[in-house]
Amino acid sequence: MEIEIKKNNKEKYMQLDRVIERYKQQEGMLIRILQKAQEIFGHLPIEVQSYVSDRLDIPISTVNGVVSFYSLFSEEPQGKYTINVCMGTACYVKGSQEILKTIEEELHIREGETTLDKLFTIKVTRCIGACGLAPVITINEKVYGRLSPSDIPGILHTYIKTNKKAAIGEEVKA
Ligand code: FES
Repeated sequence: MEIEIKKNNKEKYMQLDRVIERYKQQEGMLIRILQKAQEIFGHLPIEVQSYVSDRLDIPISTVNGVVSFYSLFSEEPQGKYTINVCMGTACYVKGSQEILKTIEEELHIREGETTLDKLFTIKVTRCIGACGLAPVITINEKVYGRLSPSDIPGILHTYIKTNKKAAIGEEVKA
């Protein structure tokens, strides 16, 4: 099974090899390499963790411990847009739970899950250092602050609309 996966992802594993080669001597290289691996594969299945573990000669338990500890890593396939709801103290006090609940209701999934169309994944995160904007969410790289639950449908709709336009564009091209 592992060999088959590697064959199907040959190009991705070659990219990962280059990343490992580049970062392996640097301090904090495991996190850096795992970040890059996640960018390459979209998530970090156990096969990829095991590959990194072999290449770096680090126990798989250590690699898996890092992947499980940091919320930025995911072992499951993610949606095109990852929504991170900050649950740090400032955001919590300003109502991030209500924000999370509204997102869950709008998308009909719970925290940690991905929508069936693979568009959105909902996650919670610790403080992202933007407490002055609490409550805060991020969608991929973009930060949304000073939110109220009523802002959520409009924000989500922007992504749904953008995605529909992109899909139509692809159809027209085809
Ligand atoms: S607590 Fe949410 S950004 Fe700091």
